[in-house]
Amino acid sequence: MVERIEEIEAEAKAAIEAAGSVPELEDARVSYLGRKAELTGILRGIADLPPEQRGPVGSTGNKVRKALEAMIEAKTDGLKQIELEKSLAGDRIDVTLPGTPARAVGHIHPITRTRRLIEDVMVGLGYQVMEGPEIEHDYYNFTALNHPAGHPARMLQDTFYVEHEGHVEEVLLRTHTSPMQVRAMEATPPPLFMIVPGKTYRRDSDATHSPMFHQVEGLAVGEGITLADLKGTLLAMLREIFGPDREIRMRPHFFPFTEPSVEFDVSCFHCGGSGSLDDGSRCGLCKGIGWIELGGAGMVDPNVFGFVADSGYNPDSVTGFAFGFGIERIAMLRHGVGDLRLFFDNDVRMLGQFS
Ligand code: PHE
Repeated sequence: MVERIEEIEAEAKAAIEAAGSVPELEDARVSYLGRKAELTGILRGIADLPPEQRGPVGSTGNKVRKALEAMIEAKTDGLKQIELEKSLAGDRIDVTLPGTPARAVGHIHPITRTRRLIEDVMVGLGYQVMEGPEIEHDYYNFTALNHPAGHPARMLQDTFYVEHEGHVEEVLLRTHTSPMQVRAMEATPPPLFMIVPGKTYRRDSDATHSPMFHQVEGLAVGEGITLADLKGTLLAMLREIFGPDREIRMRPHFFPFTEPSVEFDVSCFHCGGSGSLDDGSRCGLCKGIGWIELGGAGMVDPNVFGFVADSGYNPDSVTGFAFGFGIERIAMLRHGVGDLRLFFDNDVRMLGQFS
């Protein structure tokens, strides 16, 4: 019997040594030390043995059991350690690898940014921002702005006409934001201080004109408003946009709906208004003139008030000024963009420069 125990010991040790994982080791433990194992059976049957065998079998059996238990325990710790290391090695992340690139974030179009800048400046001066229809009636685009049917100034703003109830002359894509002067006065009694940013349309297409472009209209009407107020307002606005050292000038011009009418220029911010650069060469931005043309303006023609007299605009008691200019032109000047069409080509290499 003692010999058999020693054989079991040898077998069990071999099985424990061969176990390569915690479950395999557990199988070995169950086979050699479990309830149904041979050694367990021998130790349980000691009382049935002849008295002279009980002592040697009992002591050898118990010694072997303890030795096997100790061996299994030691090996379990070892295997667990190895398995832990394996799983740690498998889970390792290389924090130095490049990550998934962040999704490109879009940004506001340069024309929208310029529009918002102008709106911010004018809201700061107490103006409200209004919007109006891009598809407009001939009445608002021309007639009520003192361009009667057949007036030659209509030709300067040839546009796209929309067929409406069989007629092609009454509805059109607005050629300027000025029709909103009349709509705003119809809707709001004086005093009125408002700007209108928006899309406008003309049959024009070259590096500085596009069939669709954006304008900002301004209108101020109240008692005692003069051309000096117009000049001060334009100066304040353009200094915010182009810098505190800017000057403006107004030149006589003609628009049917303002009297007197002017065109206004801002002093060149590239050469400081001198027309030449530090090295003596001609300034390319203002072409040596020192001034950059921006838009049209003037005092609201009393005839225009005549169209909105019912809304409280009596030409004998109120005066006002209006101005209008292109947003693209401001954006081109601020960002040094030479061709207006680039704003609408939707080339991300161009637009991405304004983030
Ligand atoms: N609407 C004119 C244009 O588009 C500009 C303008 C606006 C002129 C307001 C005078 C007053 O050319």
